[in-house]
Amino acid sequence: MTRRKIVAGNWKMNGSSESVVELVKGLKSNDAVDVVIAPTFVYLPVVSDALKGSEIKLAAQTVSEFASGAYTGEVSLAMLKDFSVSHVILGHSERRSLFLETDAQVAKKVLATLEVGLTPILCVGETLEQREAGTTLDVCNAQVDAVLELVGVEMFDKVVIAYEPVWAIGTGKSATSEQAQEVHKGIRDNIAEKSLEIAQKVAILYGGSVKASNSAELFAQPDIDGALVGGASLDAKEFNSIIESAK
Ligand code: G3H
Repeated sequence: MTRRKIVAGNWKMNGSSESVVELVKGLKSNDAVDVVIAPTFVYLPVVSDALKGSEIKLAAQTVSEFASGAYTGEVSLAMLKDFSVSHVILGHSERRSLFLETDAQVAKKVLATLEVGLTPILCVGETLEQREAGTTLDVCNAQVDAVLELVGVEMFDKVVIAYEPVWAIGTGKSATSEQAQEVHKGIRDNIAEKSLEIAQKVAILYGGSVKASNSAELFAQPDIDGALVGGASLDAKEFNSIIESAK
């Protein structure tokens, strides 16, 4: 089954109101690939404006699981919709490790995101210690299962998964295409135990030191459906080359 490729750029806590608009102006989308960019919350309005008339989609880097109310510092899904956000990155390893997001909380956020019709990009991945202990697939599938149990497999084709080995994030040390393919297949096989049809539809992106020099090889793997790019998405030329290699 052919799944459409997705290339998403996670800008993390980078940029200025001027530089993010410049970056958007430099991006080239194409009909064959879904391109998504995720600026920090405060730049969503300015990036949303800069994207008017473009095919490029807008993502947030997290969201509150609550609808509204006394949650100081939080941002709701309704607020994201107000600025034409279509995707939400959830459970990124930086959210899990630095801001102590749990599997249960990530699952609630994924469900809330699906319920308002936005697309969650659910991040999963193992630490170096977990890889060395041989528990990579157990860790990733437990993170997926926590969401599957709450959301149910029927809706899971609307979830995009991003496999991001923690040891590969921002280190310049990407997983090899074989290592990534092995985990992507393991994640898909685990979903297939619940529904083969849904498993074949789910897009699974790879993230962790993706650059123009390694993206084509990663995208050539049968279970790698695109990338969640961090550092390299802050450079329009580099990000455009990654998008081009996904065609
Ligand atoms: O969300 C993106 C990932 O954390 C990957 O970041 O491409 O800088 O390694 P990176």
